Amino acid sequence: MFGFGEDNVTLTMDKPQPVSRLDTTVQGLVGTGVERVDGPAKVSGRATYAAEYRIDDVAYGVLVGAGIGKGKVVSIDADAVKSLPGVIDVVTDYDTFIRVSQQGGETEAPTQGVRDVEYFGEIVAIVLGETYEAARDAALRLPIDYETEEGVFAFSMEAERDGDLPPNNTPAQSAQGDVEAAMAKAAVTIDATYTTPSQNSAAMEPHASLAMWGEDGSLTLYGAYQMPTSDAQQLADALGLSKSKVRIVSRYIGGGFGSKLGIAPESVAAAVAAKRLGRPVKAVMMRQQVFDATVRRSNTSQRMRLAATADGRLTAIGHETTASNLSTEDYFEPAGISTHFLYAGENRLISHDLVRVNWLLSGSMRAPGEAVGLLGLECAMDELAEALALDPIELRIRNDPGRDPEKDVPFSSRALKEALRHGADHFGWDRRQAAGTRREGDWLVGMGVASAARANILMKGSAKVALDPDGTATVTSAMTDIGTGSYTILAQIAADMLGLPLDRVRVELGDTNHVPSGGSGGSWGAASSGSAVYLAAQALRAKLAKAMGVEEEELTLKDGQAIGANRQVALAELLDGKPIEAVGTIDKGAQEKLTTQASYGAHFAEVAVDVVTGEVRVRRMLGVFAAGRILNQQTARSQCLGGMTFGIGGALHEELMHDARTGKLVNRDLAEYHVPVNADVPDLEVIFLPERDIHANPIHAKGIGELGICGAGAAVANAIYNATGVRIRDFPITLDKLL
Ligand code: MOS
Repeated sequence: MFGFGEDNVTLTMDKPQPVSRLDTTVQGLVGTGVERVDGPAKVSGRATYAAEYRIDDVAYGVLVGAGIGKGKVVSIDADAVKSLPGVIDVVTDYDTFIRVSQQGGETEAPTQGVRDVEYFGEIVAIVLGETYEAARDAALRLPIDYETEEGVFAFSMEAERDGDLPPNNTPAQSAQGDVEAAMAKAAVTIDATYTTPSQNSAAMEPHASLAMWGEDGSLTLYGAYQMPTSDAQQLADALGLSKSKVRIVSRYIGGGFGSKLGIAPESVAAAVAAKRLGRPVKAVMMRQQVFDATVRRSNTSQRMRLAATADGRLTAIGHETTASNLSTEDYFEPAGISTHFLYAGENRLISHDLVRVNWLLSGSMRAPGEAVGLLGLECAMDELAEALALDPIELRIRNDPGRDPEKDVPFSSRALKEALRHGADHFGWDRRQAAGTRREGDWLVGMGVASAARANILMKGSAKVALDPDGTATVTSAMTDIGTGSYTILAQIAADMLGLPLDRVRVELGDTNHVPSGGSGGSWGAASSGSAVYLAAQALRAKLAKAMGVEEEELTLKDGQAIGANRQVALAELLDGKPIEAVGTIDKGAQEKLTTQASYGAHFAEVAVDVVTGEVRVRRMLGVFAAGRILNQQTARSQCLGGMTFGIGGALHEELMHDARTGKLVNRDLAEYHVPVNADVPDLEVIFLPERDIHANPIHAKGIGELGICGAGAAVANAIYNATGVRIRDFPITLDKLL
């Protein structure tokens, strides 16, 4: 009748995509608050995380971190522990170990013999045992001789820089006009420095790898990864293998927040050890090792300069950030990333610089850049509003630029003003009083606002959709669900596009044996992989339309039936008993440069500060967000609630402490590293504004995963100022700073 084979469709986003089939599906599941399809498996323990696979003959690996902050490992006395009961071996094979750079595919060049140590806790060995307990016991006893060297264990703005700045006119650096001159002649100026500490992603699931080698020299690794496709490449590079020899499986991930974007040391260690032993090796990091030896968000020092006319028009914005990292790393915390486009102002200076320290490497943590950068920018805007005696919402609205103020291109969609106005009405902003004037007993009460913005990113990726004559569909991709809801939204998209009930769609993710994907990171996951599923489903619709003898747009798919040209045919009959499948691929294109794409929102917070103890209680928060099409009201809302909670942590709690003598992290577990707990989190309300973005992708959605944290902490900090009249610029705002 007609040829049903595999078909491929690729869309490169060179042009806007005004028509989305998602707007006209019969079922309309997309956009509603469908419950997580993986929920039952998760709550019943049937969702298998990396450390939970049961494999015969597995050996347990426990990592060993360096006990010095800088220097060399001179010797490791493996024999001293090998005779302990249940201990199999100690692998200290530094040649392929382990200082993996979080962002890219680069690993440290092989060193021979003596091993350099660049930070306290850096992994130097893995001990293998017949049981986890035996391996852990030996790991804790393993004698290691070091030669210590002088290191840099404290962050200082006076430290010498390496002079190797990122290039100009990039997100890292941009200068236009003359900020100094504008500051000198402005009616009102702010020049203030905000500091934020090192932070840890603190995902619930510790990093874990289970490595197995096949007889053909291929490696299968069950791990906890956000981006299996690129992680497999990174692992292959580290081990000197071709990528085709590495399979990564990451079906369920217990949170990543950036710490699982790249491979962590336990993966290479498990793989090297498994090869040596000739048996599978499971390596799960201890909670302290997750803190010590994966990745941190860098501390920052941000000098903010704002200049404005007397009526509150910005004439200059300066946002100069100094962060820290190891001497071998390029990554810098991009705190000024949204300062490029958030507000008007003809004179602009945004820069990033690094101080080199012997601290755990720094890398991405949820909303790298904005999460701490908007503490600087949005608190400075609050200070400017106060200096101008202007409402902070009005100040932001007056400086909302019509076009990208640096690139001079239009915004793809931007509802910042609407979010601010809608939120103000809903939150009761008109009840806000002058700073330090509202008192209820021992509590000073105040309200704060901050803008939210997070760049929208499209990542190249694919998904395969197969339609079976029995009226079921299967979506497969190396995409991941890091707890965000990918399984659910991809099922919704396929179900709507193919006119199938949700329970007739299966989604299989997190396996590099599936078609490649950009995975989960940078808030690109849902829109990018959702577009790939959409395109694959479109290709299937085109095939079905052809079989029906109608145009694709005339085809209606509903309840397993194809309807068109006054005909209704069951899919099974139309398919003639044969399954069909298609691969959809989305790729970034010219639209990325022709428009500035970001999601926006507005945060509102009300806090109370005890006049006796200085303790801060967040009483309520509201986030109003516009992020294009919201694919699932419930999972999107959950992302925003989590982000807002994270924002409370950034404002009030989170702070990694580095011992000034060794760089060792002093508070390296979830008891000592404070994150908000239930008692710290009041009623949080989330509102989504309706929006479509035709420049972003064919499903018109923008990123939401990180939007909720962007600006949330600043709203809390600004509310504390409004309550007390005290401006704290050193985060977190702990009670000692307020007294
Ligand atoms: Mo995100 S910090 O890119 O997982």
